[in-house]
Amino acid sequence: MQTLNVELGERSYPIFVGAGLLAQLDKLLDSFSGSQVAVFTNPTVRALYGDALLSALGQRQVDVFEMPDGEQYKSLATYQAAMDFLMHKRHNRTTTLLALGGGVVGDLTGFVAATFQRGVNFVQIPTTLLAQVDSSVGGKTAVNHPAGKNMIGAFYQPQAVFADIETLRTLPPREYAAGLAEVAKYGVIADAEFFDWLESNVDAVMQKDAAALEHMVHRSCEIKAEVVAADERETGVRAILNFGHTFGHALEKITQYKVLLHGEAVAVGMLIAADFSHALGLCGEDVQERLLALLPQLGLPTGVPEGVEPEAMRDAMGMDKKVVDGQVRFIVAQTMGHAQLIDEYPATALDTVLDKYC
Ligand code: NAD
Ligand code: GLY
Repeated sequence: MQTLNVELGERSYPIFVGAGLLAQLDKLLDSFSGSQVAVFTNPTVRALYGDALLSALGQRQVDVFEMPDGEQYKSLATYQAAMDFLMHKRHNRTTTLLALGGGVVGDLTGFVAATFQRGVNFVQIPTTLLAQVDSSVGGKTAVNHPAGKNMIGAFYQPQAVFADIETLRTLPPREYAAGLAEVAKYGVIADAEFFDWLESNVDAVMQKDAAALEHMVHRSCEIKAEVVAADERETGVRAILNFGHTFGHALEKITQYKVLLHGEAVAVGMLIAADFSHALGLCGEDVQERLLALLPQLGLPTGVPEGVEPEAMRDAMGMDKKVVDGQVRFIVAQTMGHAQLIDEYPATALDTVLDKYC
C-alpha cells in the first residue's frame, strides 16, 4: 500500500492506494469515522463489493443508501432521497458517509456530505479507474441539473480516499479505458516521464498487472493532489486538469451523452487540443503524434463521431462552464509534461482544427 497527502491545511487528507484495502478498512477507517456510518453505493457495486465493505466495518452502526446506477441519477431527486434516508435513519452531525462506487456515487455522496446538517465527514472508496485517479480527489462534489452537468455542487473535501486497485479487475473494458484517458492526461500536462512510463508499460497496464496499477493510480493521484493543493477552487492552475475537456465536453453534449463515455470524449478532445496547440505554435507535433499512437493501445478512440459538425462544436463550447466573459478558454500543451491556459488565440486556428476533425 502507498499513501500520499492532499495538502490543504486543516482540510488535508490522505489517499491510500493498494491491493486489498477493502478488507483492511476496519482498522484503516478508525481515524476517519465515528461509530455511525452510511454507505452510499449502487446495486452494481454493492453486488460486487458491498459484502466485503460491510464485513470490514466491524461494530459500527451501518446503514446503506442504494441509488440506481447511472449518470441520470446524479440528480436533485436522488439528493432528496438521500437526505430523507439520513433523516429517517436518524443520522446526526457525527455520522460519516462512505462513498463506494464510481464518480457518480462519489460526486453525489460528497454533495450530500457537504450539506447534510451543514456538513458531515465523508470518505471516498472509489471503484472505477476514473474515480481513483480523478473524481475522488480534490473535493469537487455535485449533482446535475437538466440544463447542465455538475451545475449544483460544492467544493468539499473528503476525510480520506481509499483506492483499492483490486476493484478495477471487474470494471468493464470501456470504463477502464475511460479512466486511462485521464491517466494519459496527467502525463501530458504535468509529467513527461510518466507519459514515457505509460508508453513503455501498455501491456502491463492493459493486463492490469498489480504493480503497474498501483504505480499508475498513485502517480496520477500525486499529480492531481499537487495541482489541487496549489489551487483548490480552480482560480488558476487547477484549470490545466481540464486539458482536452473543452473539446471533450462539447463532443459529449452534441452526441447527447449517448455515444462516448466521458474519458473517451476526453481522449479525442486531447488530440484536438494537442493539434490546436501545435497550430498556435505553442508545442511541437510530438505531443499529438504520441497521443495518436498511445490512445488506441489503451482502448480509446481517436476520431470524432460521425455527424459532428464544426459549427455544433463551436456552439457547444460557447456553453462551456469555463467560459469567462464570452471568451472560450483552452488548456493547451507546451512541451510534453507542461500545459497552460490561454484565452487569446486567432479564431482561424480554431476553425482550421475543427474543420480537420469534424
Ligand atoms: P460511474 O460512476 O457511472 O461508473 C461507471 C460504471 O461502472 C457504473 O455502471 C458503475 O456502477 C460501474 N462500476 C463502478 N465500479 C465498478 C467495478 N469496480 N466493477 C464493475 N463495475 C463498476 O462513472 P465514472 O466514470 O466512475 O464517473 C463519472 C462521473 O464522475 C461523472 O458524473 C462525472 O461528472 C464525474 N467526475 C467528477 C470529477 C470530480 O472532480 N469530482 C472528475 C471527473 C468526473
Ligand atoms: N476533474 C477536474 C478537477 O477536479 O478539477
